[in-house]
Amino acid sequence: MASPPAGTYRRWVTEPETIDITDIAFGGKAVGRLADGRVCFVPDALPSERVRVRVVRETKRFVEAQLDRVSEASPRRVKPPCPYFGKCGGCSYQHAAHDLQLEIKTNQVREVLRRLGGIEAPPVQPAVASPLPYGYRNRITVHRIGGRIGFHRRDGAGLVDIEVCLLASDAVNAGLMELRRERWREGARTLREHNERFGFHQTNDAVAALLLDAVENACGDGGGSLIDAYCGDGFFANRLAAKFERATGIEWNERSVAQARTRAAANESYIEGDVSERLGEVLAGIDPARATVILDPPSQGVDARVLDLLTANRVARILYVSCNPATLARDIKGLSGTYRLAAATPFDMFPQTAEVEVLAELAPVS
Ligand SMILES: C[S@@+](CC[C@H](N)C(=O)[O-])C[C@H]1O[C@@H](n2cnc3c(N)ncnc32)[C@H](O)[C@@H]1O
Repeated sequence: MASPPAGTYRRWVTEPETIDITDIAFGGKAVGRLADGRVCFVPDALPSERVRVRVVRETKRFVEAQLDRVSEASPRRVKPPCPYFGKCGGCSYQHAAHDLQLEIKTNQVREVLRRLGGIEAPPVQPAVASPLPYGYRNRITVHRIGGRIGFHRRDGAGLVDIEVCLLASDAVNAGLMELRRERWREGARTLREHNERFGFHQTNDAVAALLLDAVENACGDGGGSLIDAYCGDGFFANRLAAKFERATGIEWNERSVAQARTRAAANESYIEGDVSERLGEVLAGIDPARATVILDPPSQGVDARVLDLLTANRVARILYVSCNPATLARDIKGLSGTYRLAAATPFDMFPQTAEVEVLAELAPVS
């Protein structure tokens, strides 16, 4: 089920109505139907629950509601441990047992690959769990507005003042405590556990290590060339270079490229630039039929020019790491004449939140 689309709403609060929850949409809202047949999106409910809701916004086809009461609770409902849960915009699933969160995310990835990717039976593996369901974040960004320091509220009405974030590691929470004692002007501040890092760094170290292992496995025996597009500081290329004759990273963040070069092996090089402008020259200098391409773009996905280049140059495999299943599905569809989805594995990089990371393995169509 897709998230509620943006549109013109009538805004009101109605008398409560009881509905049965059948699904969870991307973004974390539960889905049921009102007696009049319209789809109803409501936060903090779970599949198989019967809940009482109050409609707060409506269109002809769907409504958005507030949870009034859980009449019949799921056996997989748990007590959210965080006092800010429900108000804070960061978490969506603290009320769901961790294994249920994994099922929800796996189903969502399968559904989006079917709906937006045009794949009838997507080969989606069960989600790989985060070893730490809490305390996993090695960085958080907090905001200051007026006297408050914290995260944006779920309802968009300013900030929730946060003393501790249960998703953050102890080191990051210690930084938050210090920051609260400092005087700083309004704005955003990122607190990092890994202070030495520049540019992008994976948020959940334990899941990042599992993802790296999975990418390495998917490379098989390697050989030929590796292209690590959107490579950051060379997280994938640096580990995998030994499996290939040569490895080339492409990244437009100057400091990330500089960092990657400091530990590069002899067969490992980095190009500073836009992937859509530089990928062509890299492909022209290698044998595409013996090449592995890693794509790890930001949430917008890859540029159409990148898809065109990969269509014109059939590579041995594409390993697409995505933090946005919707743009992943769009891009897989864009490559579908030349490549097929061989496997997709969700990674639980952000437990308790509505976010999910996916590794998609694409092979040339035979
Ligand atoms: C999701 S991060 C992945 C980084 C790296 N693969 C890792 O795992 O640490 C995406 C990276 O792509 C870079 N980036 C975004 N758009 C780009 C573009 N058009 N060309 C080159 N790099 C880009 C960002 O600076 C960022 O480092």
